[in-house]
Amino acid sequence: MRKNRGLFIVLEGIDGSGTTTQAKKLHNYLSDQGFESVLTNEPTDEPVGKLIRDALSRRITSPKTSRRIDFSERALCLLFAADRIEHSGVIEEARSDGIHVVCDRYILSSIAYQSLDPGITPRRVIEINKGCSIPDITFLLRVPVNECLSRLKNRKDAPTIYEKKEFLEGIDRNYAKTLQLYRKSFGPLVAIDGTAPENKVHNEIIKHLRTRLPR
Ligand code: TYD
Repeated sequence: MRKNRGLFIVLEGIDGSGTTTQAKKLHNYLSDQGFESVLTNEPTDEPVGKLIRDALSRRITSPKTSRRIDFSERALCLLFAADRIEHSGVIEEARSDGIHVVCDRYILSSIAYQSLDPGITPRRVIEINKGCSIPDITFLLRVPVNECLSRLKNRKDAPTIYEKKEFLEGIDRNYAKTLQLYRKSFGPLVAIDGTAPENKVHNEIIKHLRTRLPR
């Protein structure tokens, strides 16, 4: 018997909005319900993803001069797209085996974050990412910037270059501005109130997902 294709589910939001927590909870829920599911993230843990993480936490230096290298948003945008193209192969393989894929951040992050550079338009980001997997559904966790900043203070990870009030405000605006275009190109997107308690946010996600899951 042919298996149903696995769903590709994406979690999005500004830093501190809870995408990582909710992606984990969703993956656990799917497994508990007897579905095969993989939890993944972008940037990925593969070589290009690792390079991006080092760039985002300013850990890259020139071997020649030992000076720190700050990547431009244009370069980051291309690196994120390269990471995503490779990642898409893995995502498609899982989907065709009937495995659900839960992904912490995807192309909407590139649209919202990299278009902090006014020279990078959402349409350009979409063009660069042509050929990448298309999600079945995307959840956008909405949390006010100040709340995210206070959540981020309690994190032990090295902060990324984006974890500043003015940047997060710009990224938040970019998310809001792009929803229509995103839905046209990448299918359904559901905005969720991410300020609610963890379990309530999770239940809200499940509520929207339930009808899409095979019985
Ligand atoms: P990470 O530490 O994984 O943040 P979080 O746990 O909040 O997801 O770092 C990922 C960072 O990369 C985050 O600041 C968003 C950024 N990002 C982009 O700028 N563009 C992208 O395309 C993606 C996938 C992430």
